[in-house]
Amino acid sequence: MAQNKDKNPAEDVVIQGHNYDGIQEYDNPMPGWWLWILWASIIWAPFYILGLHFSDVIPSYEEDLAAGQAEIVEIREAYEAANPTFEATPETLASFVGDEAQVAEGAALFVTNCAACHGQAGEGLIGPNLTDSYWIHGASDVDLYNVITNGVIEKGMAPWGSILSPDARAQLVAFVRTLEGTNPPNGKAPEGELVETSETDA
Ligand code: HEC
Repeated sequence: MAQNKDKNPAEDVVIQGHNYDGIQEYDNPMPGWWLWILWASIIWAPFYILGLHFSDVIPSYEEDLAAGQAEIVEIREAYEAANPTFEATPETLASFVGDEAQVAEGAALFVTNCAACHGQAGEGLIGPNLTDSYWIHGASDVDLYNVITNGVIEKGMAPWGSILSPDARAQLVAFVRTLEGTNPPNGKAPEGELVETSETDA
């Protein structure tokens, strides 16, 4: 018996009686898995509608969004609590000034970032002498912190606020505080106003 290659495997289940001008219809049922998904969706639909619109079981889109955003706020607050933003006040800076470890960190930062303009010992080169008692931009710890942070761009002092961390800048303040009165060789002539040492503590 010759095999007919075009024979449809479903030909065994021809639906009898469906015969239109000699065109017959085969019974090709949807696959079982597909039907199961369809039935499951149909059964799930009323529960979903009830749960969404008539009870709190399923959160609405708005509720879901609000919950998600509350979670983000929570995460952010936890992060901020764990990483408090540094505020340069006389008190916060005082905790750096005089602390040997912080001064040592500041000294290392000074050599890499500042010595090119202020001299290895802070004696002054392009930038002013940082070892005398004369200050152009104020002599308090906060003044030093601010000038280091914001720079004096038109005079060639770079702003370090976006380059060095707040801690690093506070460490630099602590280091610069140790320079006053060290009187290194080749000190640059004083610039700015004389500020008595006792006043710099303010
Ligand atoms: C590119 C050169 C340059 C570099 C690098 C530089 N400075 Fe300066 N700095 C200056 C100049 C110039 C001034 C003076 C600004 C003025 O005349 O207003 C100055 C001013 C200052 C002052 C204020 C002095 C005063 O009399 O009020 C401080 C403090 C200071 N610098 C600290 C630093 C520290 C700390 C660093 C390193 C993080 C640094 N500078 C890096 C050029 C520089």
